[in-house]
Amino acid sequence: MLTSDLSSFLCPTRIHLGIGSHTQLANVLKSFQSDRVFITVDRALLASDFYRRIEAILAAQNIQTASFSDIEADPSDTTVERAFATCLQHQATAILAVGGGSTMDVAKAVGILATNGGRIHDYEGIEKFKHRPLPRIAIPTTAGTGSEVSGSCVISDTTRQLKMSIRHASMNPADVAILDPLALTTMPAHVAAHSGMDAFVHAFESYISRQSNLMTDALNLHAMELIAGNIRSFVADRSRLDAGLKMLCGSALAGMAFGQTGLGNVHCMARFVGAFFHLSHGLSNALCLPHVAAFNMNAALEKYGRVARAMEYRVDGLSRLDAARTAVTAISELCADLAIPPRLRDAGVTEDRFEEMAGLCAEANYNRWNPRHTTSADFLELFRKAH
Ligand SMILES: [Fe+2]
Repeated sequence: MLTSDLSSFLCPTRIHLGIGSHTQLANVLKSFQSDRVFITVDRALLASDFYRRIEAILAAQNIQTASFSDIEADPSDTTVERAFATCLQHQATAILAVGGGSTMDVAKAVGILATNGGRIHDYEGIEKFKHRPLPRIAIPTTAGTGSEVSGSCVISDTTRQLKMSIRHASMNPADVAILDPLALTTMPAHVAAHSGMDAFVHAFESYISRQSNLMTDALNLHAMELIAGNIRSFVADRSRLDAGLKMLCGSALAGMAFGQTGLGNVHCMARFVGAFFHLSHGLSNALCLPHVAAFNMNAALEKYGRVARAMEYRVDGLSRLDAARTAVTAISELCADLAIPPRLRDAGVTEDRFEEMAGLCAEANYNRWNPRHTTSADFLELFRKAH
C-alpha cells in the first residue's frame, strides 16, 4: 500500500437512537454530572410538544437551564457572541442543542469559546483550538446536516462577509447525539424534502470523493439506501416514525463520513447559488444535484452502479455503463418525486451572475475531492445546463 493510500476514521460521538430515545437525556446529563445547562433551540420548536417533553425531563432532574433561540439560518459571529454571553452568565457546565444545523453549529461554537476563550474567528481552520469544549448533547430536529456527528461548524463572519469553517475531527462532534424521530414530526414537508436531499448529497458526494475509503464507503452506501428508501414516505408524512428514524440514521452516517472525505461540485455550486439567490442550503443542493451527477458519471462508473443498487434500481445484467446511467436516472427521478424544481430558473436563479459564480467555484478548489477535475469553464457550462 502506498503512503498516499493510508486513511483513518474516527467517530467520537455516542449515539442513542430510537423512537422515544429523547428520554435518555436524563441519564446523559447524570453522566456529565451537570446541573446547569445552556440550551440552543430552534425558535420554531419552542411551542412544540416535543420541546415540552425535553423541558419536563430537565425540570424533573432539577436542572437549571438558560435557553437561546434567536438563531438565524447560516448563523453569524454576532449571534454566537450573544449566545456565549448567555451561556457565560448562566455558568453552564453542559450545552444542549435542540434543532437543525444552525442551532447545533451555534452550540458547537459556544462550547469552544467556553473553554478556549477569545473569539470564534480565532479558531477558523483545522484544529485551531486546544481545549475540549464544554460537553455537548445534540438532538437534531431535521434529518439533513449530520452536524451532530461532524467535525465542523460553520459560522458567518459579518465583517468579511464569508462563512468560516471551524474544524476539529476529534473535539467538534457532539459528545452525545440523540436520534429520535419524535423530534421530526412538526417539520414542514418542504423542509423535510430539502434537508433530506442535503443528507443524500452528503452521502453521494462523500461516496464518490477522491478521499473516500473503505470505511466511509460502507457508511455512505447504507446512508444512501436509508435515505433514498425512506425520503418519499417521510416527506409525505413526517409522523411516519419508522421512516423518520431511518432518515435520521442516514443523515448521521453521512455526517460521519463527509467530514473525512470532503464533498464535491454539488456543494461547491450550491454554496454560491444559495448565497447569491437566498435559497436554502438543501434546496440549492437539490437543484444542482442531477446536473453534477451526470457530469461526474464518467469519473466514477463503478461506484455509480452501486449507487443505483442502493437506490433500489435494478442493475443486475446491465453493463457497467448502463448501471452507471441508471444512477443518474435514479437521482433525477428522486428529485422529481420530491417536487424539486427541474431548473435553476424555476427557483428564481438568473443567468447574470453565472460567470462570477463559475470563477468562485473554481477558486474554491473542490477538485481535491470531486472525482472529475472541473475548470471554471466547466462550472459555467454546468450552471447554464442547470438553468
Ligand atoms: Fe450540506
